[in-house]
Amino acid sequence: MIEKIHLVEKEFKEDIGKISQSKDLEELRIKYLSRKGLISVLIDEFKELPAAEKPKFGKAINQLKNEAQESFNEKKKYFESLSDNAEIKLDLSLPSRRRVIGTKHILSQTLDEMKEIFKGLGFSVHEGPELESDYYNFEALNFPDDHPARDMQDTFFINDKFLLRTHTSPVQIRLMEKQTPPIRAIMPGKVYRNEAISAKSYCLFHQVEGLYVDEDVTFAELRGTLISFVQQFFGKDIKYRFRASFFPFTEPSAELDIWWQPKGKDGRWMEILGCGMVDPNVLANVNIDPEKYVGYAFGMGVERIALRKYGISDIRTFFDNDKRFLIQF
Ligand code: DAH
Repeated sequence: MIEKIHLVEKEFKEDIGKISQSKDLEELRIKYLSRKGLISVLIDEFKELPAAEKPKFGKAINQLKNEAQESFNEKKKYFESLSDNAEIKLDLSLPSRRRVIGTKHILSQTLDEMKEIFKGLGFSVHEGPELESDYYNFEALNFPDDHPARDMQDTFFINDKFLLRTHTSPVQIRLMEKQTPPIRAIMPGKVYRNEAISAKSYCLFHQVEGLYVDEDVTFAELRGTLISFVQQFFGKDIKYRFRASFFPFTEPSAELDIWWQPKGKDGRWMEILGCGMVDPNVLANVNIDPEKYVGYAFGMGVERIALRKYGISDIRTFFDNDKRFLIQF
């Protein structure tokens, strides 16, 4: 009896192995698993055995029956899955699904572009901390204690000594402490001001600081560099003007305005940066000899520049994270 069982098992395995299309499965089922199939015949024979013999073969027959049924089901499922997939696989005309991936934020794009232009002008790129000490944000930049110039920038103080930097100028100090001239670098980053939020100002914005220190740096070079920047960034036709100004850390100081003409509104001058020749006191604060070295510096507002370039009218849209706005760029 046990040989018979093994024989049927062997034959079944061979037969099922040969099946390559679903219509042959039915034949297999009839041969082995139907009422009159080989396995049923075995079971019938088993039932005829004397009771004493039964335990020897019961398990083997049962196993054969179950395994055959299982293999058959698996094969059937496999053929079914093939025919399901076949339809999907073959419809090559289906358009692919559009994947929604993010875009680079418009401010990051603007910053990237600015960095590229300044790299082309020979500037390297440095960064500094957003949490600053009073020393770097004010004192080293020649803002004396109680000097009214401190009121120009509404500061978020953390405590007596620390604050959120109000401009990127402290990075100038950090850089000059570390490097010896010649130094030619830009320093982009976030700055914070405790101002009333409106279409024109926000509590957080970005600046790009610039610094060039060497033995014979002139205001004419500063002017030339900034004009080259605005022309590369906005195009040769950009209308600009320099105005005299005041900053504690530069002398003389100036501001650069560009002409802004929003659609359907009156045009006006818009200030985009402050600049000047580094005050000798600032150089002395970082142990650079002001008798030997001269420097120029500038600090520009990234949002304002992006507003002008992309014709956006409200600075808050940069920070709302509204996909409908961001996706346009
Ligand atoms: N730090 C100034 C501000 O935030 C901008 C500035 C003006 C930076 C003149 C400079 C500079 O480096 O020379 O308003």
